[in-house]
Amino acid sequence: MSQDRLQGKVALITGAASGIGEETARLFAEKGAVVVVADIQDSLAHAVVDSIGVHKACFFHCDVTDESQVEAAVNFTLLKYGTLDILFSNAGIMGPLAPVLDLDLSLFDRTFATNVRGVAATIKHAARAMVSRSIRGSIICTASVASCLGGVGPLSYTASKHAVLGIVRSASSELGVHGIRVNCISPSGVSTPLPCKAYNLEPAQLEQAVTGIACLKGIVLKPRHIAEAALFFASDESAYISGHNLVVDGGFTVGNHAPTVSTTTQAP
Ligand SMILES: NC(=O)c1ccc[n+]([C@@H]2O[C@H](COP(=O)([O-])OP(=O)(O)OC[C@H]3O[C@@H](n4cnc5c(N)ncnc54)[C@H](O)[C@@H]3O)[C@@H](O)[C@H]2O)c1
Repeated sequence: MSQDRLQGKVALITGAASGIGEETARLFAEKGAVVVVADIQDSLAHAVVDSIGVHKACFFHCDVTDESQVEAAVNFTLLKYGTLDILFSNAGIMGPLAPVLDLDLSLFDRTFATNVRGVAATIKHAARAMVSRSIRGSIICTASVASCLGGVGPLSYTASKHAVLGIVRSASSELGVHGIRVNCISPSGVSTPLPCKAYNLEPAQLEQAVTGIACLKGIVLKPRHIAEAALFFASDESAYISGHNLVVDGGFTVGNHAPTVSTTTQAP
């Protein structure tokens, strides 16, 4: 794999001040891209930009729930760097852990405003920029294992991540004619502030719980693993892949978690 897989590319990443978005911003910059770090946590985002280097990254304040801010972030990227090759629509929230019997629909709306409307708005404006400039871009969204499984997160979050998958499939089918690819990544639990705060766990506790439910043993899921998946979608190595949901979960969603007869036992 070449060290400059994203040389000359311009990427806009939402939710890039922390966690998966931050790690992806670092990796994309390492691989030759320039990155617009878009987030609502201004001071954290400035620190990320400073550590990457101001010649490789810059910050733009963008609340993805506000379409005008999303449009402004895309316009800023085009004005500053002249193009937009990669959108990583990653900003998300988990919302409260309340069970369905106590569902607060205003909080449900808030989760959808960020995780669903925010993703739709970023795709709309990034794709408009790509189509009008004939850019064969790559759009990547962060879904979750909750995009394909119930019971691994609160109802609003699970519904919102199923919706992200629907957006990705719909947008990929519409935008393919313009040469634009749209994919999503579905991580299992990664020890970022999002799940650690929601479940009130220390990073090590979360990692232990996630490792316990994965089929794959001897490895701990880190933000870097998700960033590597995003790099694959952003680069030409995935040139013919669109509409895909890449689940990064160590086999959790396909394993049989029911008690089974040991497979190491010899049949009589
Ligand atoms: N960490 C996990 O276990 C996990 C698992 C599956 C999916 N995800 C998804 O990964 C994505 C990134 O989350 P993370 O784990 O890195 O968490 P994180 O909390 O570290 O990062 C999320 C970032 O999104 C930003 N953000 C939130 N609302 C925003 C808004 N309205 N506009 C712009 N930015 C906003 C936050 O400020 C934060 O910097 C989310 O979409 C999340 O649902 C995370």
